[in-house]
Amino acid sequence: MNVGFIGFGNMAQAMADGWLRCEALRAEEIGACARDPQKLERNARVRGIRPLTDAEAVVRFADVVVVAVKPRQVEEVVGPVAELLRDKIVVSVAAGVLFDDYERMLPSGVRHLSTVPNTPVAVGEGIVVCERRHSLGEEGWRTVETLFSHLGLVIAVDTPLLGIAGTVCGCGPAFVALFIEALADAAVKHGLPRADAYRMCSQMVVGTGKLQLHTGQHPGAMKDAVSSPGGTTVRGVAELERKRFRGAVIDAVDAIENK
Ligand SMILES: NC(=O)c1ccc[n+]([C@@H]2O[C@H](COP(=O)([O-])OP(=O)(O)OC[C@H]3O[C@@H](n4cnc5c(N)ncnc54)[C@H](OP(=O)(O)O)[C@@H]3O)[C@@H](O)[C@H]2O)c1
Repeated sequence: MNVGFIGFGNMAQAMADGWLRCEALRAEEIGACARDPQKLERNARVRGIRPLTDAEAVVRFADVVVVAVKPRQVEEVVGPVAELLRDKIVVSVAAGVLFDDYERMLPSGVRHLSTVPNTPVAVGEGIVVCERRHSLGEEGWRTVETLFSHLGLVIAVDTPLLGIAGTVCGCGPAFVALFIEALADAAVKHGLPRADAYRMCSQMVVGTGKLQLHTGQHPGAMKDAVSSPGGTTVRGVAELERKRFRGAVIDAVDAIENK
């Protein structure tokens, strides 16, 4: 199956890396176009994928066309190739460009789906939030779900929830990176070499997340499980509560949602 990216920036490269890493796609099955041909050439060469001249070349090459330009650029790149998309599957990763927008831009009957992936797709641990409303049909959905499940968790939500799901999954990695950096700084302050501190803190986050996914435990119960009475962990938990840790995280999400 050929996958073509219209736009080959951070998100498209992360997705291509995810597929190549797990060998879901061979490099020759991935093609991409971008605005700056030299930058595209460099980004394509390191991965062995095909640099293509423009959106039309991508559409002719691909079975699945991934629209990965900035949201405000979607109309200008999709418009001129809309007629050529009739027998393709179109998957959009542009934040906030939804089913109704593509229905307006594309000829009727074109199969399309709007998604919000996050950058950990590059290592197969991403989340691809999908708008539940799509026009892929059952077979098209199965194709996309299978392809995207190589990148991590594929989860469908109703249209009004796509924004908040995208905020948590797409902006969340920045919050978690801040936490990893802070925890590692604390470890360095107490003598741990920095490289070891980053590896330990990152693996601790990965492990805690996997444990929650695996057991389905309430996060509060997971906290309690490592907080023995009068022990050390609960002292740290109490300090985080005193500094409004949870309130700060909720405020951060509110700040994005209310922008
Ligand atoms: N980054 C994330 O974490 C994230 C998360 C969720 C969703 N998204 C969505 O993913 C999309 C891309 O974001 P990004 O972070 O990857 O942005 P980006 O790094 O700026 O990449 C945008 C790409 O679009 C290309 N482009 C611009 N105009 C074009 C045109 N007329 N024809 C062909 N290609 C064109 C750019 O080419 P040049 O570089 O050559 O100009 C670049 O390769 C956005 O819609 C965003 O909402 C991103």
